[in-house]
Amino acid sequence: MRTFVTGAAGFIGSTLVDRLLADGHRVVGIDNLTTGDLANLNQALAFHAPGRFTFVQADVQSPELSDIVAGSNPDVIFHLAAQVDVRISVADPLLDARNNVLGTINVCEAARAAGVRRIVYAASGGSRYGAPLALPVDEETPAHPLSPYGVAKMVGELYLGAYAQMYDIAPICLALANVYGPRQNPHGEAGVVAMFGSAMLQGRPVNIYGDGTASRDYVYVGDVVEAFARAGESSLDITGTFNIGTGQQVTVREVHRVMAALVDGSLPPNFAAARTGELQAIALDAAAAEASLGWKPAVGFTEGIERTVSWLRATLAPDPAELIGA
Ligand SMILES: NC(=O)c1ccc[n+]([C@@H]2O[C@H](COP(=O)([O-])OP(=O)(O)OC[C@H]3O[C@@H](n4cnc5c(N)ncnc54)[C@H](O)[C@@H]3O)[C@@H](O)[C@H]2O)c1
Repeated sequence: MRTFVTGAAGFIGSTLVDRLLADGHRVVGIDNLTTGDLANLNQALAFHAPGRFTFVQADVQSPELSDIVAGSNPDVIFHLAAQVDVRISVADPLLDARNNVLGTINVCEAARAAGVRRIVYAASGGSRYGAPLALPVDEETPAHPLSPYGVAKMVGELYLGAYAQMYDIAPICLALANVYGPRQNPHGEAGVVAMFGSAMLQGRPVNIYGDGTASRDYVYVGDVVEAFARAGESSLDITGTFNIGTGQQVTVREVHRVMAALVDGSLPPNFAAARTGELQAIALDAAAAEASLGWKPAVGFTEGIERTVSWLRATLAPDPAELIGA
């Protein structure tokens, strides 16, 4: 299969690229490298099969996107490029909408022009449903996003639905829970697992905002790319939105406890005032993904955390050359 991945240098995108190459597909990846890191593609760029992987530094908003897509003639577009920070979306909703709404429309247009029928889109299960009263939520729960990021990601789903009606495009939107795992940026505010892990390994205390009872549905990145791979290979009559999560709620305190048990000498957490607008709890019912895509999560939370901590340990290890120079 010929595949096209937007956001290819990001956390989930680069993991998907490696998975698609391992499955024997050809991959063209694009990324504008705002939050993505070319180092995430080292394995893909070293892949020992000439021509199987091509990277193009480009923005999904750019007018050249249509030519790039047409030139690679993909069977499937996996659209993961996005501005992913909720707080940036609040501070600069126009920037967020340009990337996440206009960028997605441009991907739809490029697909239409090139005759690509399957688009698999990274939707946001964490923001799609607002603050639901009953958990876990299924896809029939009304969408009620509460941030510019959530609205823009939802609008992407709506555009894909409209393109499905107008042009026979067959989109699958994977509404992802809180994804964690190797390659999640440990330096930013990307995800609580990456932040806690890097702080603990570097001997810094961890901040827990609120009382630590806020809970999320943590899904391992390997399971998430399995869902993308299945969606990409599924029959074109399967379309629509599918939750991708574990259905389990894990509190922030529990994340801290599991991680602290793996890192010798980690400090007790600091408790700080709860941040306004943060959701108290979310968990996704992924029964529809199991029924239509045969997908269910395979990596348990403790195992996923162990893999992530090992990766963080290797990534954050001090460079011996720097120590010699110090
Ligand atoms: N990580 C999660 O928990 C989570 C949950 C739900 C949905 N998602 C979605 O999954 C996708 C991937 O997220 P991630 O966690 O890997 O984040 P990430 O920041 O690591 O990946 C996003 C990638 O898109 C690139 N990018 C951003 N704007 C672009 C643009 N205009 N043109 C081209 N490239 C651009 C970035 O450089 C980055 O490499 C996003 O669409 C995000 O909304 C992620």
